[in-house]
Amino acid sequence: MDEQVGQQARQQVLAALAAQPGGVDDDDAAFRRRFDQHFPDLCRLFHSLYGPQSDWLDHLTALVLEAVRSWQERPADLKAVDDAKEQDSGWFLSNSMLGGVCYVDRYAENLDGVRAQIPYFKELGLTYLHLMPLFLAPEPHSDGGYAVSSYREVNPALGSMEQLRTLAADLRANGISLVVDFIFNHTSNEHEWARKAAAGDPAYSDYYWIFPDRTMPDAFEQHVREIFPDDHPGSFVPTPDGRWVWATFHSFQWDLNYSNPAVFRAMAGEMLFLANQGIDILRMDAVAFIWKQLGTTSENLPEAHILLQAFNAVCRLAAPSLLFKSEAIVHPDEVARYINPAECQLSYNPLQMALIWESLATRNASLLAQALERRHTVPDGTTWVNYVRSHDDIGWTFADEDAAELGINGFDHRRFLNSFYVNRFPGSFACGVPFQDNPRTGDCRISGTTASLCGLQGGEAAAVDRILLAHSITFSTGGIPLLYLGDEVGQLNDYQYALEDGHAADSRWVHRPRYPAARYARRHDRSTPEGTVYAGLRRMIAVRAASPELAGTRLIDFSTGNRSVLGYQRPGKHSTILVLANFSDEPQSVSPTTLSGFAPDVVEILTETALRLDGGVTLTPRGYLWLRVRAG
Ligand code: GLC
Ligand code: GLC
Repeated sequence: MDEQVGQQARQQVLAALAAQPGGVDDDDAAFRRRFDQHFPDLCRLFHSLYGPQSDWLDHLTALVLEAVRSWQERPADLKAVDDAKEQDSGWFLSNSMLGGVCYVDRYAENLDGVRAQIPYFKELGLTYLHLMPLFLAPEPHSDGGYAVSSYREVNPALGSMEQLRTLAADLRANGISLVVDFIFNHTSNEHEWARKAAAGDPAYSDYYWIFPDRTMPDAFEQHVREIFPDDHPGSFVPTPDGRWVWATFHSFQWDLNYSNPAVFRAMAGEMLFLANQGIDILRMDAVAFIWKQLGTTSENLPEAHILLQAFNAVCRLAAPSLLFKSEAIVHPDEVARYINPAECQLSYNPLQMALIWESLATRNASLLAQALERRHTVPDGTTWVNYVRSHDDIGWTFADEDAAELGINGFDHRRFLNSFYVNRFPGSFACGVPFQDNPRTGDCRISGTTASLCGLQGGEAAAVDRILLAHSITFSTGGIPLLYLGDEVGQLNDYQYALEDGHAADSRWVHRPRYPAARYARRHDRSTPEGTVYAGLRRMIAVRAASPELAGTRLIDFSTGNRSVLGYQRPGKHSTILVLANFSDEPQSVSPTTLSGFAPDVVEILTETALRLDGGVTLTPRGYLWLRVRAG
């Protein structure tokens, strides 16, 4: 965009702002300051998406007017949060951050039930709570709420917008940030826009990718992946009037058409509305899919990044403390491209998640060590969200080229991992269930809770060890550890899931059990598996929060000379935490020579035990050590 176009745009937008009724008060002055700082970015980004359309500047002007309206409506307490976070912009990089995620209904019945859990969240040490989608959605098929019928209405079974605001404020008062999804790739087919489109309204038909016949769908489908092949082949489904609409996920989730600037504006409005309810972090759902282009896979296109940056610039104007978390479950090179202070400040770490499971199955930590060495670094001012399990399936998203360097064939290895985790491989400890098994492509993913995938079904000690080992990695590599709530007491698969309305065709429900009340009741009893898991995790949480070395994401690899033992260092100002983790079922040693770079006297900080490194270190089966070391 040339400078003159930028200047003209600025003049037109400023003139429109000046023509707004109502004077300039102190808050508007704050808006003006941020406008001066961020408008040039927004303008450049918006122009690069929509510049070829003659009315792009009118859309941009309307967008800024919407932003200023939203800012004027932003409650004073949230503006105070904006100011506080501006002073402490790295707040989410702290080693005290701990995330939890749950379904409102399954975990706590409704929003007031979630509020009633705040004392427990504090007991656990949560500072970040992701509530799974809680908006109005079709029944009984809503993809767990990921089909949104209105971004401004809470699902009445869960509560009201008023209750959501109250919950957000209560969480905030207790030091817990609220995270909700921004499901912006698609709406449900019951959203008002979709209904109007289905009724033939041309303006709303342009909100989606709707075509009169199969010509364009066939052309697009030559290059795009099937995401939910159990639901429908390809990416398009018929509309009631016989046209075809893009639906990447389920047939009732219609993809929005962001090549239409009206869609960007409308969704920016929904985003700012959510921000003003007291949301701290938006989980940007399915970011890989938001921009489509004929002849491409329509995943991870450059415009997807520009779109996210443009949404981000809108936040900087009108909800300055809001952060984005990217949900990109794709090739690790592509995951990394979303992580940027101007795009998504946080990102799920699907590679680490998948490779923890890979290491548990193979008893070989080489792929995980390689990933930590080459794929863990993220830009300053950004961080990972590290997790063992989420509400979704496990997809084996490691890079085939990385695996090849270790002599591993990616395709064969995925087949092995799938058969291991669905317990078809001799000696497997895991009780998982296949998800979207696609015989045509050989693709398959895995469902199952942490504990069931670790083999806790029978309650044996090795399973407890595996649960703790897996979390010892997510708690120490750097980033926000995110617990799938219920996992801290070892919740098991729910094989009754198929009996629930609308769930039978989606095996992910097997790992979304209801609140495991009996297990929670035993959490302080260390003679039970749930008590052991709980005590182990609590200890890691406390030690992590007290270890400044574990803040941020800086990690230095450490080669243990033993394939079963993962090693890495987390450097602090005065000392370093050296983590050693044994994925084998036998005791494993790291030699004195390997450890000779460190001063011999060290402390294992989880158990507060003094150790010497000059005789080497032996780890128990599935054991891990967090060693505070100094250079020798
Ligand atoms: C995300 C969600 C997943 C959902 C999909 C479609 O990937 O995590 O649960 O099915 O988006 O919204
Ligand atoms: C695919 C998508 C991911 C989504 C998942 C749901 O892997 O890439 O975004 O979470 O499907 O199963």
